[in-house]
Amino acid sequence: MLQLLMTQERPPLPTMHVPPYLVNEYYDDRYFDVVNAIEEAKHIFFQGTGIMDTLCAAGPGRKEFIIGETGFGAGRLLIALMDFLDNSGITDIAITYNSVELHPVTSERMASILSGFRTEACPLIDLLVSAYSRIEISKPGWHQIQLTRPFGIITLNLWIGEALDMVHALSTPCDAWFLDGHGPKKNPAMWRHELLMAIGEKTVTGGAVATFTVAGAVRRGLTDVGFSVEQRPGVGGKKAVLKGVKG
Ligand SMILES: C[S@@+](CC[C@H](N)C(=O)[O-])C[C@H]1O[C@@H](n2cnc3c(N)ncnc32)[C@H](O)[C@@H]1O
Repeated sequence: MLQLLMTQERPPLPTMHVPPYLVNEYYDDRYFDVVNAIEEAKHIFFQGTGIMDTLCAAGPGRKEFIIGETGFGAGRLLIALMDFLDNSGITDIAITYNSVELHPVTSERMASILSGFRTEACPLIDLLVSAYSRIEISKPGWHQIQLTRPFGIITLNLWIGEALDMVHALSTPCDAWFLDGHGPKKNPAMWRHELLMAIGEKTVTGGAVATFTVAGAVRRGLTDVGFSVEQRPGVGGKKAVLKGVKG
């Protein structure tokens, strides 16, 4: 139990080893763990929500899939997802990727944050940074980017503002949610009942949720709003991660 509690937040690193641009100054927390950032995303979020199983089960023809993300940050999950799908061998996929960011970074800072895994995903980083640089990040509300990839097309709907407002503004429920808004100790607002309730309401029956934290408050919060949650083996510094399915 003590071990699990200790893995709920990102493992601490000596401050001198963390470049300042990697730390979100509003929450005193790293955007993500740069080591294995892509692999970590695939394990926690894509395997956790079973995207590949859903896409494979969809059969021939256009496969539409709607994702919600709490905490866009530097777009690492979006890059990892494009990399994952590019290498899936599946085509004719149309992903709608709804995300939200209260404190948007500049495109220059985004490039710096993502530089830790440039060797793995250079073209995808350049593609996203270039498209993101055309977003007016000082303007609240929806912004849209469409990217064409070998797997199909991905549409990023990015809400600049508060997560609850973004979830309320969604007109169509999501098939899967990636909850990545800093840990509950650093940012309890991202895990409050009101927000989790809204996320539950904007999830299709049988839809999935995945997150890096197994904190008791998160497990109980997701259970309270209708998800059956389950701990899975972790990755990197995390002993366990969480997935849930909406009943
Ligand atoms: C851990 S970072 C996200 C990392 C991102 N998924 C990535 O892979 O690059 C969490 C993000 O959530 C944002 N955030 C925190 N609280 C928020 C809120 N109430 N509404 C919207 N965004 C919020 C933070 O500013 C931060 O960028």
